[in-house]
Amino acid sequence: MATRDAGDIATMRAVVIDRFGGPEQLRERQVPVPSPGRGQVVIRLEKAGVGAWDPFEREGGYAEMQGTSPSFPYVLGSEGAGTISAVGDAVTNRAVGERVFAASFLNPTGGFYAEYVCVDAGLVAPVPAGMSTSQAAVMGGVGMTALRGLQDALEVRSGETLLVHGASGAMGHLAVQLATRLGARVLAVASGVDGVALATRAGADLSIDGRAVPVADGARRFSADGLDAAILTAGGPEADAAVAAVKPGGRAAYPTGVQPEPAPALGVEPQAFNGEPDAKLLERFVGLIGDRPLDVHVAREFTLDQIPAAHHALREHHLGKLAITVA
Ligand SMILES: NC(=O)c1ccc[n+]([C@@H]2O[C@H](COP(=O)([O-])OP(=O)(O)OC[C@H]3O[C@@H](n4cnc5c(N)ncnc54)[C@H](OP(=O)(O)O)[C@@H]3O)[C@@H](O)[C@H]2O)c1
Repeated sequence: MATRDAGDIATMRAVVIDRFGGPEQLRERQVPVPSPGRGQVVIRLEKAGVGAWDPFEREGGYAEMQGTSPSFPYVLGSEGAGTISAVGDAVTNRAVGERVFAASFLNPTGGFYAEYVCVDAGLVAPVPAGMSTSQAAVMGGVGMTALRGLQDALEVRSGETLLVHGASGAMGHLAVQLATRLGARVLAVASGVDGVALATRAGADLSIDGRAVPVADGARRFSADGLDAAILTAGGPEADAAVAAVKPGGRAAYPTGVQPEPAPALGVEPQAFNGEPDAKLLERFVGLIGDRPLDVHVAREFTLDQIPAAHHALREHHLGKLAITVA
């Protein structure tokens, strides 16, 4: 028997699309509040994240890639934070009233651009001590993807040198922090003077402006013999230069979605990976945070009705992540 809090309601505000397309398809609407199935919880969201990948989902890119025909209205959004309002059968690790964050890509019961979201209990964890609800809301997707890249794709080891390309972006600034916690020495290639400052604050051993300084020059200064590995959160000539800065036989990896795909260099074949949040990855992520909160940078917060503007803002220079204030 599902357990709910006292304020049971039937409908909620959500931002939906009725067909795939541009930002103009995003509309606020009343839709039914989801009910938790077995092993699921419902979260009353306070904040949600805006992902760099959300426009691709809005345009129907993932549906086409996966050959699926989702039903409309369709609620986007794959991460957020708030308070658990209901738990389904067989949920033993979470309780109504807990303050939590969650990330669930293409969440089958609807996305996070809404007042309530229903997710598998294994994808939900308490908001870490010392972190705001906004920070916790936006860190799940990129934080776990960065960790997937660092630990599973690159197998970064303590003492190795690592280049993070796009180090002032959403994934990049968390990749810098997670990599230093794994013991790597980090060269951050950030965007702009403000980006360099953020990457330095994130703990990079050296930060350079990839929009102004050739990556090869920065890499030589950092490690004359080449780097052990690189994680690329953006594509283009400077990303290719980052791969070329890795020593032959070293490793380079990028999350699927980075365009153009980074080119191979002598003895280095960039490998694509996906975040694919699951309970085990979440456990590792939360374990690496421990009692040291991540310094998650939230550049701007938008209201639910401003989500089309948030999608436009994704294309403009900004540091860290964009958030939505739901409640
Ligand atoms: N497959 C998966 O599971 C998965 C999961 C999450 C994300 N992704 C993909 O991973 C990519 C990164 O995501 P994100 O959320 O981190 O996006 P993001 O915030 O846009 O990060 C990319 C960063 O790269 C910076 N950049 C671009 N060219 C640069 C250069 N020459 N020098 C220095 N910095 C440069 C951008 O700076 P400015 O724009 O500020 O100039 C931006 O900060 C996206 O393509 C996303 O779709 C994939």
